[in-house]
Amino acid sequence: MALRQIVHLPEPILRKKAKPVTKFDKDLQVLIDDMFETMREAPGVGLAAPQINLPMQLAVVEYAEGEDEELEEGAPEPKKKTFVLINPEIVKVSEEKVMGIEGCLSIPGLVGEVERYEAIQVKALNRHGAPVKLKVDGWMARIFQHEIDHLNGVLFTDLATRVWKPNEDENEETPLD
Ligand code: NI
Repeated sequence: MALRQIVHLPEPILRKKAKPVTKFDKDLQVLIDDMFETMREAPGVGLAAPQINLPMQLAVVEYAEGEDEELEEGAPEPKKKTFVLINPEIVKVSEEKVMGIEGCLSIPGLVGEVERYEAIQVKALNRHGAPVKLKVDGWMARIFQHEIDHLNGVLFTDLATRVWKPNEDENEETPLD
């Protein structure tokens, strides 16, 4: 496995619509593993292929609900959930929307308040090309929407009602993708 370089604004690829993945070969498996490694090292909770300069509809996500909250003593560590999203499409959204603070590995030093659907259903392909349907809510739904936006050249700063430079402690509390 190898780390890939994360690109930042104003890199033009971050503004382009990524192309569907059609080949599920060994190279793709290596790329997916590299993306997980790069995301964990960053560290982030998601990473989309355009962020490593590849125009592909592919993103990885890893997050444990509650991982940012303080744990009670003796409580089990929240279990991380891992997803590979290939050619994803949002097929259903909740009526409810929620505000939350987001950052992005491709826009260092800025966070913003973004309204997202509280829950979504996504149709995608898994890493072997098999169709999957995923239902996510809460912070996971937010991460999915942020990553799917990346595949369409959309960044959180386009949607944010407010963008600012966080102070250091605030920055630590905002999971990045
Ligand atoms: Ni991002």
